[in-house]
Amino acid sequence: MTKTPASLLLAAVLAAFVLPTWAQQPAASAAAPAASAAAPAAAPKAEGAAPVALVKPDLAAGEAKFGAVCVACHGQGGNSGIPANPKLAQQHADYIVKQLQEFKAGKRQNAIMQGMAAPLSEQDMRNIAAYLATQKEKPGFAKDKDLVLLGEKIYRGGNQARQLPACAGCHSPDGAGIPSQYPRLSGQHADYTAAQLTAFRSGARTNSPQMAAIAAKLNDREIRAVADYIAGLR
Ligand code: HEC
Ligand code: HEC
Repeated sequence: MTKTPASLLLAAVLAAFVLPTWAQQPAASAAAPAASAAAPAAAPKAEGAAPVALVKPDLAAGEAKFGAVCVACHGQGGNSGIPANPKLAQQHADYIVKQLQEFKAGKRQNAIMQGMAAPLSEQDMRNIAAYLATQKEKPGFAKDKDLVLLGEKIYRGGNQARQLPACAGCHSPDGAGIPSQYPRLSGQHADYTAAQLTAFRSGARTNSPQMAAIAAKLNDREIRAVADYIAGLR
């Protein structure tokens, strides 16, 4: 019986204070301009990231864009024939998107690719990446017989004494990588792979602290060896 008066009282309080406050909200327009004043600052990010993530990648649009611009350097279907330009065929889509975002943001620095990524929207990146992931990579081959054994040793076993982890541990034994976490390496041009390892080591490529720490443990000979081994991996 004591509850009824209490809830009646509560209802009266609600009626007296809360409801009139709500009723005032639309009239008291102070809240609305405040919200829209904050919106322009937040808008560019929200438009770029949130809604696009929900949109399915468009393979045909990705192929068209790749064919119009990127093919000149990265080859048909992303199978670059130029050792300095990476093969992109069969690379995991998430990795490609990450690199394009980071070129655009200046987090990964390369004069050519920063210029190429700048005009791409999030949707363009996703489209191109999804298209490339469906392309089959043309296998490469190791060239340096003297070094390839050293390369294999590093790739498969690392070096325990120097706490160098095996590349295979993350990039998988056949170099196919693990989608969304670890990029595909197998078949890549040795020149490109060696250049990236050198860049991670020197701090020129700063978009992966993990790889920077690993590359710091490799000497030039080991970089050439493991890059050559990776080129022949399949
Ligand atoms: C003028 C030549 C050129 C053009 C055109 C070009 N790229 Fe590149 N791309 C390069 C070079 C060189 C690199 C290696 C950059 C480095 O050393 O960091 C690269 C690297 C990349 C990478 C990083 C690959 C990896 O394994 O980390 C991606 C992704 C990429 N390009 C995508 C594209 C896309 C998409 C386009 C078209 C919009 C494009 N590129 C156009 C030359 C080019
Ligand atoms: C602990 C996990 C891990 C290990 C072990 C590892 N990597 Fe990586 N590696 C990564 C990640 C993560 C990336 C992606 C970096 C990024 O997002 O830019 C990467 C990227 C790379 C790239 C750049 C690929 C490209 O297309 O530009 C090369 C080359 C590479 N790793 C070589 C190696 C070699 C060689 C070894 C062994 C000596 C090795 N990695 C061991 C995690 C690892």
